[in-house]
Amino acid sequence: METKDVVQRDSFGSKLGIIAAVAGSAVGLGNIWKFPYITGVYGGGAFVLVYLICIALIGLPIVLSEFVIGRKAQKNAIGSFKKLAPGTLWFVPGIMGLVAAFMILAFYGVVAGWTLEYLFKAITNSFVGKNPADLEGMFGGFISQLARPIFWQIIFMGLTCWIVLAGIKGGIEKASKLLMPVLLVIIIILDIRAVTLPGASEGLAFLFKPDFSKLTGEGMLNALGHAFFSLSLGMGTLITYSSYMSKKENLATTAVQVTIADTGIALLAGIAIFPAVFAFGIEPGAGPGLVFITLPNVFQQMPGGYFFCILFFLLLAVAALTSSISILEVVVAYFVEELKLARRAATIMAASAITIMGIPCSLSMGVWSKVKFMDKTFFDWLDFIASNVMLPLGGLLIVAFVGWYLGREKTEAEVTNEGELKAGYLPLFMFLAKFVAPVVIAIVFLHGLGLF
Ligand code: TRP
Repeated sequence: METKDVVQRDSFGSKLGIIAAVAGSAVGLGNIWKFPYITGVYGGGAFVLVYLICIALIGLPIVLSEFVIGRKAQKNAIGSFKKLAPGTLWFVPGIMGLVAAFMILAFYGVVAGWTLEYLFKAITNSFVGKNPADLEGMFGGFISQLARPIFWQIIFMGLTCWIVLAGIKGGIEKASKLLMPVLLVIIIILDIRAVTLPGASEGLAFLFKPDFSKLTGEGMLNALGHAFFSLSLGMGTLITYSSYMSKKENLATTAVQVTIADTGIALLAGIAIFPAVFAFGIEPGAGPGLVFITLPNVFQQMPGGYFFCILFFLLLAVAALTSSISILEVVVAYFVEELKLARRAATIMAASAITIMGIPCSLSMGVWSKVKFMDKTFFDWLDFIASNVMLPLGGLLIVAFVGWYLGREKTEAEVTNEGELKAGYLPLFMFLAKFVAPVVIAIVFLHGLGLF
């Protein structure tokens, strides 16, 4: 028992490093790649509004719930449930999280590989002189190739594996604490360029003016699923990370800060992308390529664009890396603790299995793009089942666990650091945790699947 703890605790640095790790996990491709692309697919403003409501009413309470569970139990996700609710079936969300981690990292690694290709393209100045149609063709041509996207996926997964293995997370989290503010600055510069493009206001209206006639049950389910995805919720990542938090940490403040930062970056990414989408006549519902097609156009219209473009894709890859290590970590923790594997073997096995599962994802963008089941490719199915089914169900169980099983007294003791802090929000939190979050998740879920 003790050695296990030492091995795990060893991987993280200081208290600040842990907060950086949580933010690093949350901010990633979800904010900059997925949020704009699904906002485009599901019609803009109304989708964004539902997403923001999901973040506030469901996401934030679940962030705090995962923090309460993890810091109280001081264990990995499954161990935490077993410790807090011995002899019950409450560990089931932990098992679901394991499966979801496999599925998410499989397609995450593929998209992260694209960012490496685009970094390479940026360095070799491949976007210069290309018009929007050329850039669209360039993206389509790249992802439909057989070997090249898989090559970059393997490189990215290798990096993820290496960081988890070498136990240098402290280092990368420190680096990302420096680098993520730089990414934020670049996004803000991009925002300024984008909103001053001719025709930009149409993009802002698309993003912020809700048109409820475009909102479908499927769109709402995606907004909910994305709230989980973006905040790294429902899978035990935050339980695991918060088990390393100090007993002096203010859990509620940390939860609010991480949620605001994560949501803010997603919105800023949307503000950089949609004005440009309309200015350059790109289809908002273009799908997973939206960011990769749109932003090179913007960089070309900027002084110093060559330089900013390189920096942007480099930092996007780093942001993806601080997220991917948090996903792999969940799997490795299970393998080490449940299957009693050595950390090294567990990491290499998990990363290899996930990389192999990612290959059909990559192929489904090209040679297998016609292989569909109910209109979804393999890539779409992995994302759908993991993000829109497993994460919401996991989140539902997690929040219900805190609301109903732990209950008010134990929760209060944990969020107030045994009475040190005030928690005036507690009645509201318990209400959200017991009723609002579970009920809303259940309704959106059933409605989105067409069952309600
Ligand atoms: N939140 C990350 C992003 O937005 C992805 C991620 C990391 C994640 N860990 C997770 C998603 C756990 C779901 C569950 O890119």
